Amino acid sequence: MIARPAGPAGRLIVALDVPGAARAAALAAQVAPHAALVKLGLELFCAEGPAAMAPVAARAPVFLDLKLHDIPNTVAGAVRSLAPLGAAMLTVHAGGGPAMIAAAREAAEAVGAARPLILAVTVLTSMDESALAATGVAGGAASQVLRLARMAMAAGADGLVCSPREVAPIRDALGEAPALVVPGIRPAGAALGDQSRVATPEEAVRDGADWIVVGRPVTGAADPAAAARAITESLGR
Ligand code: C5P
Repeated sequence: MIARPAGPAGRLIVALDVPGAARAAALAAQVAPHAALVKLGLELFCAEGPAAMAPVAARAPVFLDLKLHDIPNTVAGAVRSLAPLGAAMLTVHAGGGPAMIAAAREAAEAVGAARPLILAVTVLTSMDESALAATGVAGGAASQVLRLARMAMAAGADGLVCSPREVAPIRDALGEAPALVVPGIRPAGAALGDQSRVATPEEAVRDGADWIVVGRPVTGAADPAAAARAITESLGR
């Protein structure tokens, strides 16, 4: 099981949102000296299947961000099927409920000491108040995030994926228990892309993030290795 970083080093996760395992593996090789993990998501996994993992995992530990959400038995089966790929982190939707999260954790435990961390995704940041209301959730995102975060941790999640603005409230409510993995990060001066509410790497870690997820500011840089190194160095190494 990957250890939570104790100091400033080992906090950068580079999101490899690129088409094709070959490109992802090439980027992983470039950033690996300066990143703790790389993140692979649904687009690549759906296009190329589990075979996309091996060439990337050979270069860096992998956060496999598939956001599983189904009945407990099916999610447990998916975690068992994914286990041989060797991901260091897997995501499930907290909205799947406590039994689903517990089943994911139990299936991960069966892997043994090298098991992946089970991270719960609370409210997608694409969901605004009216979208939440349309799904029957009244009261806004902030309270729903904390409700789901508490439930997910009680059910056995190792941690949570959350936006920078949720880090401090989650730490206030749940203390040090959850591993917090935080996307929506932009080094000062970097292009926002489609991210609207962002924090710098330093701000997110100061608020209590364990790991930060950065994609395009690294993968779109002329020199991805240098971009990753600059982020890691900004955290003090
Ligand atoms: O390129 P960028 O740094 O915006 O990439 C961030 C990564 O984190 C993407 O893979 C994106 O899907 C993911 N993510 C996010 N916001 C969330 C959850 C995941 O940006 N709330």
